[in-house]
Amino acid sequence: MNFEINNRPRRLRDHPILNSMIVETALSTDDLVLPVFLTEEEDSPVPIPSMPEIFRWPVSIIIEKIEEWKTLGIKCFAIFPHVAPSKKNEMGTEIMSPSALAYRAVREIKATVKDIALIADLALDPYTIHGHDGILSNDGRVDNDKTVEILAKAAVLAAEAGYDLVAPSDMMDGRILKIRQSLEGAGHVRTGIVSYSAKFSSSYYGPFRDAIDSKTDMFVDKSGYQLNPANFREAQRELALDHLEGADILMVKPAEPYLDVIRDAKRAYKLPIAAYQVSGEYSRIWAAHLQGWLDLESCAMESLLSIKRAGADIIFTYFAERASKLI
Ligand code: PBG
Repeated sequence: MNFEINNRPRRLRDHPILNSMIVETALSTDDLVLPVFLTEEEDSPVPIPSMPEIFRWPVSIIIEKIEEWKTLGIKCFAIFPHVAPSKKNEMGTEIMSPSALAYRAVREIKATVKDIALIADLALDPYTIHGHDGILSNDGRVDNDKTVEILAKAAVLAAEAGYDLVAPSDMMDGRILKIRQSLEGAGHVRTGIVSYSAKFSSSYYGPFRDAIDSKTDMFVDKSGYQLNPANFREAQRELALDHLEGADILMVKPAEPYLDVIRDAKRAYKLPIAAYQVSGEYSRIWAAHLQGWLDLESCAMESLLSIKRAGADIIFTYFAERASKLI
C-alpha cells in the first residue's frame, strides 16, 4: 500500500539517467586558478610541510611544470614569490625592484609558455620583515595611503613584466581606484584587476604564511585591515566599493567558510566572482585524509563543487592539479 502523495523528488534521483540530467552545477578546469609558489634559492622544488604536494618552485623548473599543468587543462596561475630573507626590510622595497623574483619569473615564463594567464598577487607581506601587508607608521599601524601608493606603482611593474591580471590582496582602502588609475596612466589598459574584495582576517592562512615565510615569531594580527569573520554587511560594503572603483573580478576569501558572502556577491553584481580556497582549507582536508578520517579526493571535489554552487565563477585552489584529473 503506497501513500497517495504527489511530490516524490526521489523519482528523478532514483533513475540514474534522469539523475544525471538534473545536475545543476559542474566544475570545469576553465574555472580553476592554481596558486604557484616560487623560490629563488634552490635548484630543486622545496616541499611545504603543512601543504602536502605543494612546493616552492625554482624558476628554471616551473616552466616545464606549467607546460605539464597546461596539458591537464589548467591555464591560469597566481604567482606568489618566496622572497629571500636578505631581501626583506621594514618597507618591503624589493617590491619596487624590476628584477624581483615575481617579475623576473613572469618574463621568463611568458617568453617560453604560450596561451596562459598569469596573476600577480599584489601585497607587501612577502617583502616586509614584519609580515604585514603594508608599511608601518611610527605607531606600528599599517599606513593606508603610503601602502596604496607603493601597490599602485608595483601594479605597473607587474603589468610591464607581463602579468595579465593584478590581484591586490592587502585590503587597504581605495587601492582599486589608485591601481586602476596607475595602470591606465602607464598605458596598461589591458591589465585587469582581480580584487581580493572581501578578504577575512582568517586563521586559515597559516600554511600559506609557512609557504612564503611571512611568519614572524610574533602572531601577525591583520584584523586592522582584513574583515572580521563575523561581518557580512561590512563584506558587502567592501565588495560594493571595489565594484565602483573599477575591479574586473571580485573575490571572496577564504571560500568555503564564506559561502554566504559568495552567494550574495553573485546576486548583487554582474562582475565575475572569484573565490579563494585558501591554504588552511586545503590542509585541513589533507590532514583528515592522512589521519584516515576523510577521503581526500571526494572531499576536495565536494568542497570545490560547493564553492561553485554558491556562485563562484572562478576558484583559486591548491587542488587544481588533482581536480583537473578528476573532472
Ligand atoms: C597576503 C596573502 C595571504 C594569502 C594570499 N595573499 C595571506 C595573508 O593575508 O596573510 C593567503 C592564501 C592562502 O592562505 O592560501 N597578501
